[in-house]
Amino acid sequence: MSEFLSVIFPEESAIPKQHTTTYLEQREYLINGELKTWDGPLNPVVSPVYVKTTGGTLEQKIIGKTPLLTAAEALKALDAAVNAYQLGHGVWPAMAVGERIAHVEKFLARMRETRSEVVKLLMWEIGKSLKDSEKEFDRTCDYIVDTIKAVKDLDRNSAKLVEEQGFMAQIRRVPLGVALCMGPFNYPLNETFSTLIPALIMGNTVVFKPAKYGVLLIRPMLEAFRDSFPPGVINIIYGKGRETVGALMETGKIDVFAFIGTHKGANELKKLHPKPHRLKAILGLDAKNPAIVLPDADLTVAVSECITGSLSFNGQRCTALKILFVHKKIINEFLIRFNEAVKKLKPGMPWDDGVGLTPLPEPGKTEYLKGLVEDAKQHGARVLNENGGQVAYSFFYPAVLFPVNEKMRLYSEEQFGPVIPVVPFEKEEEAIQYVVNSNFGQQVSIFGNNSKTIARFIDAFNNQVGRINLNTQSQRGPDTFPFNGRKDSAEGTLSVADALRVFSIRTVVATKAVDANKQILATIIKNRESAFLSTDYIM
Ligand code: G3H
Repeated sequence: MSEFLSVIFPEESAIPKQHTTTYLEQREYLINGELKTWDGPLNPVVSPVYVKTTGGTLEQKIIGKTPLLTAAEALKALDAAVNAYQLGHGVWPAMAVGERIAHVEKFLARMRETRSEVVKLLMWEIGKSLKDSEKEFDRTCDYIVDTIKAVKDLDRNSAKLVEEQGFMAQIRRVPLGVALCMGPFNYPLNETFSTLIPALIMGNTVVFKPAKYGVLLIRPMLEAFRDSFPPGVINIIYGKGRETVGALMETGKIDVFAFIGTHKGANELKKLHPKPHRLKAILGLDAKNPAIVLPDADLTVAVSECITGSLSFNGQRCTALKILFVHKKIINEFLIRFNEAVKKLKPGMPWDDGVGLTPLPEPGKTEYLKGLVEDAKQHGARVLNENGGQVAYSFFYPAVLFPVNEKMRLYSEEQFGPVIPVVPFEKEEEAIQYVVNSNFGQQVSIFGNNSKTIARFIDAFNNQVGRINLNTQSQRGPDTFPFNGRKDSAEGTLSVADALRVFSIRTVVATKAVDANKQILATIIKNRESAFLSTDYIM
């Protein structure tokens, strides 16, 4: 273990009392409105945090267990969702939007009560800092509030009848069917709920499988899910993805597949569906967002944004800046300042004040990152920053690699961790060609001040990526902005409003606008004879 990092992990007694965790053995899972108890095998929840024992050795904390359900339980969850949807005639899909909103509001109120428990589990399960864990929880609540507002807007806009080319019509959004929602370990709450809540509120029924890590943190909300929705509307299962989710896809009964993870994982699961044309997929996948730092960039801004862009949550964000192209004219100054800024990031435990770097939750991750660094070194790069690449168990100190070229794995492989490849460039075309030829197409960040140069980059990139950031890091937020990607980076667009669209389809009731038909429409509306054909809207 690195000398420098030998004190990174605390003694148990040194962990502030309010942040200690109690072992949580979870056996419950949610099917058809019932919390079932699993008496089969359990999966240990291993924290990225190690603690010093009295003997002076380090022990990785096991903070609980979760059920290792099998395909049989997963299929029961699916049956419950299928029955609750009832081919579109179930209580939930047929329910008035206003009532569905009331259910979601009830859930949100209960969810808010779990904040401190969930935040603590975010820290212990995935090593996210206290500040970022709180932010993730609050941002998720805000997302739900904004979603409710967007549903009301949608409802208001579709409450009117339209007249076009001699036709009268009402167009409303209706659910798609049974949705399978799966989130990623880096945002196990926020990213998962950013598909789960829109899916529910639009009238779909759901089978939800929590991420690989960040699983226990759903436990405090299980009762809230159970009590807030009609039976079968939301079903929550646990276990190995291949066994549980694979079985679900093979039935062909999943109508919507909402998945945030790798494109490999998404492809494997999609292929299992026997009727791919019936499956709508909403995918948030891999990315390798580059920053391009131009010779006239404000280096204070560029360095600070590239630091947060590449290292917040240790670089474990799909939107992270994963490769920096820096112009040769300013590369020396940039690297000096960048390395100084890396040095200022405080390594420590998630609850430590001002912590900037924390342990990594994925087993084997530090070995993987070491492999990337070695490969880059073999092809001519050096680690530039002090202590760069040092490892202590699950902790990997950031490594700034320079000069990086196309022979290195780091040039094209998504590292999803604290390794920062820096590529020197001279001609604009070098940076442009990197983006054009990349397998990924999520975002790019350009740092510079010359409007003409920036305009050239914007025009070169607008058909390549989903978002072009100027003098700012890549990111998903604000959550009202469209969040998507091209190539291997995404399928579909998410945002507060877009998510409502992707989990629904428009149905039209149309008729020729002659007196007799108008009379029928007027009677249905006046007497409130139909739930769909109606000009009522939610205030
Ligand atoms: O991991 C991918 C997330 O959607 C990134 O969200 O840019 O707000 O960190 P963020």
